[in-house]
Amino acid sequence: MKVARTLISRDQIAARVAVLGGQITVDLQAELSRPGQSEARVVMIPILTGALVLTADLIRHIPVKMSIRPVVVSSYPGTATTSQGANISGAVPTDLGGAHVIIVDDILDSGRTLGLLKRVIAAQRPASLRIAVLLRKNKPGGRDEHVDVEYAGFDIEDEFVIGYGLDYDGYFRNLPDIGVMGE
Ligand code: IMP
Ligand code: MG
Repeated sequence: MKVARTLISRDQIAARVAVLGGQITVDLQAELSRPGQSEARVVMIPILTGALVLTADLIRHIPVKMSIRPVVVSSYPGTATTSQGANISGAVPTDLGGAHVIIVDDILDSGRTLGLLKRVIAAQRPASLRIAVLLRKNKPGGRDEHVDVEYAGFDIEDEFVIGYGLDYDGYFRNLPDIGVMGE
């Protein structure tokens, strides 16, 4: 396997993640400064496995008291490179009512994964609910499910990418740069 070309370098990612972390910090501090909110819980929900790398970097730019509660959602079993629909395969926290929740994922593609998880969490009535993704894929034909994300690192074209948490068949998540996959 070769990376056909690097799309986003590790330095570009690091700079952008720092900015996203700063924005999230400002927004969370604004939520916590509202009347009666100073003791509210902040919960970050990374979607595993793709958000693993992003989350590790992002949380170190958010100096706010929070817990990290990963969930497992899979949508690309095996070697498929198009969405197969999203499945929640691990437990989702059930105590998110009243909490300030940030969902983190590597990429917004068809929208099924984030759409599903957002509905499941919104039903618990969190005090606020926002989504952060590193990549937002441009879908010329529109997404299967429209999902608004509050924080997006980079808008990219509709091609399959790997690295910085993003996999092909479970591999290549450990590549430090994001690249377009070759033959
Ligand atoms: P969605 O449900 O189609 O929006 O897909 C979201 C999930 O699909 C992400 O969490 C990724 O794991 C995976 N995915 C989507 N596009 C890519 C890609 O280009 N490379 C690797 N994984 C991807
Ligand atoms: Mg994933």
